[in-house]
Amino acid sequence: MRLLSVRLIVSLILGVTLVSLLSTYYEVRREKQGLRNDLERRAEVLGESLVENVEPYLDGKSLKQLQKIVGRFSNREHLVGVAILNAGLEPIAQSAGLPQQIKVKSLALPEAIADNKKQSHFIRRDGRLQNIYALPLHRNDEVVGELVIVHDADYIDAQTAHVWRETFLRVLILVVLIAFVTLMIVRWSIAGPIAHAAQWMKSLRTGRVGGFRAIMPDLDLLRPLAREMETLAESLTAARSAAEKEAQLREAGESLWTPERLSVYVRGKLGNSHLFVVSNREPYSHIRRGNSVQAVVPASGLVTALEPVLCACDGTWVAHGSGDADLETVDGKDCLRVPPQEPKYTLRRVWLTKEEEEGYYYGFANEGLWPLCHIAHTRPMFRVSDWEHYCRANEKFAKAVLEEMEGTEHPVLLVQDYHFALLPRLVKKARPDARVAIFWHIPWPNPETFGICPWQRELLEGLLGADLIGFHIQSHCTSFLQTVDRTLESRIDWDHFTVNRENHRTTVKPFPISVGISGPSVHQPEQNAYLDRATLLQESGVEALFLGVGVDRVDYTKGILERFLAIERMLEKYPVYQQKFTFVQIGAPSRTHIKRYHDFLADVQAESERINWRFQTGKWKPIVFLNRQHNHAEIERYYRAADVCLVTSLHDGMNLVAKEFVAARDDEQGVLILSRFTGAARELRDAVMVNPYDIERTADAIRYALEMEPEARTARMERLRKVVREQNIYRWAGNLIGDLCDIRLEIPRDARAENRVVAAS
Ligand code: G6P
Repeated sequence: MRLLSVRLIVSLILGVTLVSLLSTYYEVRREKQGLRNDLERRAEVLGESLVENVEPYLDGKSLKQLQKIVGRFSNREHLVGVAILNAGLEPIAQSAGLPQQIKVKSLALPEAIADNKKQSHFIRRDGRLQNIYALPLHRNDEVVGELVIVHDADYIDAQTAHVWRETFLRVLILVVLIAFVTLMIVRWSIAGPIAHAAQWMKSLRTGRVGGFRAIMPDLDLLRPLAREMETLAESLTAARSAAEKEAQLREAGESLWTPERLSVYVRGKLGNSHLFVVSNREPYSHIRRGNSVQAVVPASGLVTALEPVLCACDGTWVAHGSGDADLETVDGKDCLRVPPQEPKYTLRRVWLTKEEEEGYYYGFANEGLWPLCHIAHTRPMFRVSDWEHYCRANEKFAKAVLEEMEGTEHPVLLVQDYHFALLPRLVKKARPDARVAIFWHIPWPNPETFGICPWQRELLEGLLGADLIGFHIQSHCTSFLQTVDRTLESRIDWDHFTVNRENHRTTVKPFPISVGISGPSVHQPEQNAYLDRATLLQESGVEALFLGVGVDRVDYTKGILERFLAIERMLEKYPVYQQKFTFVQIGAPSRTHIKRYHDFLADVQAESERINWRFQTGKWKPIVFLNRQHNHAEIERYYRAADVCLVTSLHDGMNLVAKEFVAARDDEQGVLILSRFTGAARELRDAVMVNPYDIERTADAIRYALEMEPEARTARMERLRKVVREQNIYRWAGNLIGDLCDIRLEIPRDARAENRVVAAS
């Protein structure tokens, strides 16, 4: 740093000195020229008036008169003397100012006579600068001599030297000031912050700080650098904790899946191939907020699951561009690199018209397939126009996927969910060398139920274009195969759960999705939960001793009304919990554009108000309904503070809230009440199981959970956490991609010739 300061100061001094000297040089030159011109002008004026006086006496007889005239000019400022010379340049008369020893002849300027023109010369005589000004003298228009005026010009030199001296002093003061200010700037704004940052980075490197944000120094001028350093520190902290986790796992002899393990595994499986993902929801949408555009991450388990995979192998994610600023943030090919802070993979956006979104997403997917697959007693709607939009949207997404796949051999495609039942076949037809899997995130109903869909054949054919179809649980796989069996001409191998149809084999397998918990649990002081509970309730203006929590999209499949009825019944049956137990329902608005959802939201609101009206006293009420989107951190506070979490879906493919609650409870407290109609119920055996339609028993289950012995509560949570830790999201993604990459592709001969692709191993 000292060397840097010295270099900076020396460069500044040299620069400033050079510029000052150059500008002074030009100033001095101008000044000197100005003074010379001025002197010459004075000599000219004097000369002209003298010539007028002298010329009448140039008859050769008036020498005395001439001497008298020139004698008058001895006492003028800077004037040395005046002399009159004849044509032979011999002096005729001269003033006393010209010292005798100077030979006046030597001062003559013969050109004045020769050219008949005024002449001026500056000469240095005996070390002094003098100006000689000569004017021709005439008699009868004939040049008969010249008048010489000698001025002392030494004062011009003195003046010039004075300017140089002043400049030197000015430069000296300037240089000292600049050096001082530079030194201060370097010290305050550069050296200081850099020293702090170095100290901070050293603490990070040596692992002496827990969180990188805690002591992030103020880097003043280097703020942009600070931001980069922050990201670097984040990566370093993440890498260190990942390495620590890995070491802990090795130490514990466990073989858990972590994001790092997933990265290595997926890269190995993909080899030279490229991974593509298609989903309706995008991982980042750009939203206009005032004058700025913000990248928003939807609260979706899917993003958590797939992002580490895409980051690990620089994949491509194709999704519907639904943000109001999405169009402004893509390149000419509708792509952008994400995550915004540290781009690692490509997001390709697909645009849908309002009508397409209405028919494909709201209509066929969410008013048709969603109620069809969930046994929640809401009638599915099958409109021809919705179906047509669904087909067109699938084609649009397939086209985008195929465009992205161009130039990639044996691409690997993961299609997500019920929005894209037709897409596997569309892609496979065009790219038989692609490995295609579709994961169906919702339940698959029995064949009778699915059979009411007028386009069941088309949907099944579309799905069977895939090499691998994933469901959350085995019974959904079985229902799917039964549906295929009843609907299509095909050969089903029940031993291996495969369907053979039109020379193509599809494997059907369960992959229970999960959340991201990888490390062993870290115990937190128990008191935090109690304090947080009071604070959280206070934020809603409520005082209570016990806290229950529910987190759902406001969807009729989630059993929110049944949950409220069970809470009402519990308070009725066990009045000791009145004024003591409050249930917070976090309800993210969802698909409210659909009438059924719109009406359902109103029902949930009305029901919570009715129950509150019935029991509410003073600062206590039984239900707090928070009807807005909450981020992960906000939700986690509720998970960690709750005595009990209620998941009472009427039917659910998996339900990640149940697993998120378990993942959040590293204090091994809290009880999970779980509907037996969720996929999660197959794995989370230590939850308190309920049939949400059975209000009486669910009410009892809430009381049971609240009164459970602490040891039993901890033991259950410990076992639940073990399951979630082992069956985590990284295992889900690893298994899905691993199984897909291991499938032996059988590319039909004609397609092989057509596409000139080599069959994969
Ligand atoms: C279900 C689907 C998901 C979807 C989520 C949110 O869980 O299986 O694929 O992301 O609902 O629904 P939305 O319609 O808001 O995307």
